Amino acid sequence: MGRLYYVRFKQLLIFAVFVAILVVFQFYWKTFSLLDDSRFIGNNVAFDPYSLEHDFDDYEKEEQGLDLDYEFEYDEGRNSRNEETLKSKGFEVENHEKESQEIPSNGSGMQSMKISVSMLNDKSLKGSSTESTRLSKLIWPTSLTQLNSKLLHSFNDSSMRPKWSSRRDRELLSAKLEIENANVISKSSGLYAPVYRDVSKFSRSYELMEQKLKVYIYREGEKPIFHQPKMRGIYASEGWFMKLMEGNKRFIVKDPKKAHLFYLPFGSQMLRANLSDKKKMEQYLERYVNLIAGRYRFWNRTGGSDHFLVACHDWASRITSQPMKSCIRSLCNANVARGFQIGKDTTLPVTYIHSVMNPLRKVAGKPPSERTILAFFAGSMHGYLRPILLKHWEEKEPDMKIFGPMARDAEGKRIYMEYMTSSKYCICARGYEVHTPRIVEAIFSECVPVILSDNYVPPFFEVLNWEEFSVFVRERDVPNLRNILLSISEDKYLALHLGVKNVQQHFLWHKVSVKYDLFHMILHSIWNNRLSHIKLK
Ligand SMILES: *[C@@H]1O[C@H](CO)[C@@H](O)[C@H](O)[C@H]1NC(C)=O
Ligand SMILES: *[C@@H]1O[C@H](CO)[C@@H](O)[C@H](O)[C@H]1NC(C)=O
Ligand SMILES: *[C@@H]1O[C@H](CO)[C@@H](O)[C@H](O)[C@H]1NC(C)=O
Ligand SMILES: *[C@@H]1O[C@H](CO)[C@@H](O)[C@H](O)[C@H]1NC(C)=O
Repeated sequence: MGRLYYVRFKQLLIFAVFVAILVVFQFYWKTFSLLDDSRFIGNNVAFDPYSLEHDFDDYEKEEQGLDLDYEFEYDEGRNSRNEETLKSKGFEVENHEKESQEIPSNGSGMQSMKISVSMLNDKSLKGSSTESTRLSKLIWPTSLTQLNSKLLHSFNDSSMRPKWSSRRDRELLSAKLEIENANVISKSSGLYAPVYRDVSKFSRSYELMEQKLKVYIYREGEKPIFHQPKMRGIYASEGWFMKLMEGNKRFIVKDPKKAHLFYLPFGSQMLRANLSDKKKMEQYLERYVNLIAGRYRFWNRTGGSDHFLVACHDWASRITSQPMKSCIRSLCNANVARGFQIGKDTTLPVTYIHSVMNPLRKVAGKPPSERTILAFFAGSMHGYLRPILLKHWEEKEPDMKIFGPMARDAEGKRIYMEYMTSSKYCICARGYEVHTPRIVEAIFSECVPVILSDNYVPPFFEVLNWEEFSVFVRERDVPNLRNILLSISEDKYLALHLGVKNVQQHFLWHKVSVKYDLFHMILHSIWNNRLSHIKLK
């Protein structure tokens, strides 16, 4: 008897070892074959050799060996490779990674998402959903009014006083005073006042940024994680910013003593590609911070409050929350319930870039009178909210065009565009995470964005008055979506539409950046937040 058990046990053991080897082998095979394939897929992008600017041409070539777009899309086995290759040709594809576990919703979209602030600071909890019981101060979900009040209250935050004073701080302080006392500007500024919180202050602040701001970029950090912009894909905003910042003449200084702000030039996307888990990424950034804190005096002076990073990967918020907690973080995943600090951190818009040569996707949208569809949405069923949206609105009302994923071919793309340009409102529903490239797409096609993503802080929240060109709907109000939109008067709609047209310039990338474009707006938000929080010794 005993011997029989022993044999059985041995067999089982051998089987288990075999399975383990298989799993490990598969994992490696998958990782490496992907890296290989991506080189070939990388050539599929639209390419117009005549419109190239030399500079970008070089990048495109350099990039080909490193194009890892497609690798991310495999995560968690959600998608098949062929589908992804096709998707890459479609107009709008979202492939966010889940930042942490999805918490199932019972349909209210509110109950399900309680996460306490203390959890974010408690390393041991690691975003586990069972901690939803540890509710504390945070009110969920955060409405726009609450976001506004958080912005106002952000000024008494915890950023440290500098250890010693610097001439740069005094320069910033004098700029801050000038902005506060900005004269009311005349219409000739070319800015459309209603879309700004305070057009005079914005205009003055922008001017002073152009005149005064100096940025130092640390040379430390190895490629490809540092100093190597990735210009395509869903996380391309961080790459475009890096590229334009590193190539900038106006703002960059070689001497760090002259700098008001210090840029930590890494790509969160590349970091994700090189290191598999969040802990390792966090440790990597921590080592970097220790390196620059040891080598220069600037980090220690302010504990990093005059340092900034620009990162679009879904996980960037999480992996920077400890090592770079006092830095100004420009993040795509701007979720106030997950550690995004309004007023200190700032929202990086998600711009899905398909072609480096032609990043602009401004579309001639139809005039308001020809927009016959009330609301449009199409997309994959990422996250908990979109199935709820479809459940309530798919094929329910003729003026509500709410769909699941569209065909990825040219025809699907054409239909998608047709809807974007002929709908009054475009629903920007959160996916796995709060951010979505739809907001910028809607703006480009002159469709009023309807932001359906609780706790998301929209881009340039510090300066833009989002209610003048978009509509915010709480997740729990999905069942009332149509009524909410119908209750907006025609006059108000026309005003929103006009607002959308007037903010377009702030969401456009230019290979050589121009005034008020996306690059400058991102930098302005960082400058703005530094000014709001500056403290003197
Ligand atoms: C969701 O849960 C809350 C509290 O547990 C409950 O009040 C609400 O009715 C539920 N909603 C649905 C749609 O089940
Ligand atoms: C910020 O400070 C002001 C006074 O300096 C105080 O009235 C206000 O309550 C504080 N706000 C927060 C959120 O702590
Ligand atoms: C990161 O990944 C790239 C592409 O696979 C590789 O060439 C590079 O050596 C890696 N770098 C580091 C620091 O691991
Ligand atoms: C900054 O502080 C860290 C930790 O306290 C220390 O190790 C480092 O040497 C300091 N840097 C400089 C340049 O003094």
